[in-house]
Amino acid sequence: MAKNLTNILYNEKFPLSNKYNPEWILENSMGPNVLWLTEWLCKKIDLKPNMRVLDLGSGKAISSIFLAKEFGVKVWSYDLWINPTDNWKRIIEEGVKDMVFPIQGDARNMPFAENFFDAIICIDSYIYFGTDDLYLNYLQKFLSPGGIIGIVVPGLMKDFENGIPEHLKNFWGQDCWSWHTVDWWKKLWDRTGLVEIKVADTMPDGCNLYVQWKEAQDFTGKNPWPEDTAILKKDAGEYVGFIRLVAKKL
Ligand SMILES: C[S@@+](CC[C@H](N)C(=O)[O-])C[C@H]1O[C@@H](n2cnc3c(N)ncnc32)[C@H](O)[C@@H]1O
Repeated sequence: MAKNLTNILYNEKFPLSNKYNPEWILENSMGPNVLWLTEWLCKKIDLKPNMRVLDLGSGKAISSIFLAKEFGVKVWSYDLWINPTDNWKRIIEEGVKDMVFPIQGDARNMPFAENFFDAIICIDSYIYFGTDDLYLNYLQKFLSPGGIIGIVVPGLMKDFENGIPEHLKNFWGQDCWSWHTVDWWKKLWDRTGLVEIKVADTMPDGCNLYVQWKEAQDFTGKNPWPEDTAILKKDAGEYVGFIRLVAKKL
């Protein structure tokens, strides 16, 4: 099939994401397709209409818009780098202004009431602050008892044996050192006794999906790191992929 913008992000694994305009997704995802990652996470979270959800590190708020539209939840769209007025414009344009509330702030210093949220989700952002051993204890205070926290992060399918593998040397920046294995993340949360881990897994074929995303960016001239496409193809999931954790607050 010829590639064009009506099918370039089509993936049968993500029927909900397939409904959205690929140009809009390409324009507003700050890493790999944020709708794919959100949809994957939500397969393991039982979201019900009117639940209060924190979308932590929501970037340009399209995951928040997706959550409101697909699940009828109310979303506090919280991010550090992105101007909330720009997010508000996107939220209004998508017709969910009564359901999504944009706020700018630091994940380590949040303005919310304790026990406020029914669920906290975090897509491709937890690696910027959540590797701190003490962070889960801070975050879980904002969840109601029995509330759910779910994250998706890019990560390692296995640890490096002897430093950065040759084929990843032009991919691996200093900010990748917070990429870890699923076992690493599971242990970080499990040992606290604060949560019960419901899911800790990796995305089957995650690296291929990353390649599909990079090829779509190449096709539209929106790939900020064009050399990554070939590198990820070469890796083919040996090291690089996506990790999902879902846990219930005890
Ligand atoms: C790779 S982007 C992902 C954004 C969005 N979830 C997406 O996938 O398009 C990482 C996001 O983490 C946010 N972030 C980084 N450090 C943060 C912090 N300390 N508090 C809140 N957000 C933070 C940034 O503002 C940025 O939007």
